[in-house]
Amino acid sequence: MNSPVNVTVTGAAGQIGYALLFRIASGQLLGPDTPVSLRLLEITPALKAAEGTAMELDDCAFPLLSGIEITDDAKKAFDGVNIALLVGARPRTAGMERADLLSANGGIFKPQGEAINAGAASDVRVLVVGNPANTNALIAASHAPDVPTERFTAMMRLDHNRAISQLAAKTGAPVSDISKVTIWGNHSASQFPDILHAEVAGKNAAQTVNDQAWYENDFIPTVAKRGAAIIEARGASSAASAANAAIDHVYDWVNGTAEGDWTSVGMVSDGSYGIPAGLITGLPARSVNGSWEIVQGLEIDEFSRGRIDASVAELVGERDAVKELGLI
Ligand code: NAI
Repeated sequence: MNSPVNVTVTGAAGQIGYALLFRIASGQLLGPDTPVSLRLLEITPALKAAEGTAMELDDCAFPLLSGIEITDDAKKAFDGVNIALLVGARPRTAGMERADLLSANGGIFKPQGEAINAGAASDVRVLVVGNPANTNALIAASHAPDVPTERFTAMMRLDHNRAISQLAAKTGAPVSDISKVTIWGNHSASQFPDILHAEVAGKNAAQTVNDQAWYENDFIPTVAKRGAAIIEARGASSAASAANAAIDHVYDWVNGTAEGDWTSVGMVSDGSYGIPAGLITGLPARSVNGSWEIVQGLEIDEFSRGRIDASVAELVGERDAVKELGLI
């Protein structure tokens, strides 16, 4: 048995937190040989609700759960942290301008980045789930100069999993036969779910489908707007599927991506694929020896170029806005 890994979850009393914590404590985040020590970070008014969740975690008697701490102090929450799941964020409310949203989230992710810089373990890995995830990750990373930027990631995995599911439904193949899907760009409606390099049972997905109208008018908007469709149907935003994607992301990061496959990661661009270096954008990536590596050399056709550029332009706009606000 390994020694316990410190896992911090922010927004622990929220709906994703509720779907996530039990899976972490049961061993699904890091595997069956790794005990976890949980730190729950919440805002003061939500501490009581977080305590309720902690009581339920106790009541599960998870053999791998070695401890739970609840706090509203980011410094305490991130002291010695190995895995940080930044879920809590300020949602957009009616009438809120983009600058207000970015500024409110800057007020959350700047101090959290500073606390990670000050106290995290040297192997810390950060996944930002709270939206706008890519730009929140950029803000946190820019306030953690001692932590390699590659350790700050934003969650594209829910979009990735949604794309796999839609492609499986279209082709009639089981999801386990789908590989090499990529979600490029921003975790927003501008994202580009790319099946041109994807495979269905080892054969090119775009050629197998052979239906450009479906690709452009059905698949891409269905994946990109799935979050809104879930809200419409459920009356609340995706929670269990978002928690599941966070588990998938970290599990692969730590244990490696499946042989012959890659996944989609919101990670810092090195300038590949004409995407400005330093942006945190959806990219095809493999986890090799515990680090994400961008899959290089994919051919980008004209259609894909336009889609990638449009989503990247949105990210550049968000980056410039937070720069103007003095948040990075
Ligand atoms: P929620 O509103 O149920 O929970 C958010 C929790 O964060 C609340 O308990 C709140 O008290 C807490 N919180 C707010 N500020 C905090 C701070 N400074 N420190 C610690 N905790 C804080 O929201 P839900 O449904 O759990 O979603 C969380 C975030 O995840 C949202 O921003 C949502 O947009 C995003 N999301 C991202 C997805 C992705 O694919 N990247 C998918 C689905 C949701």
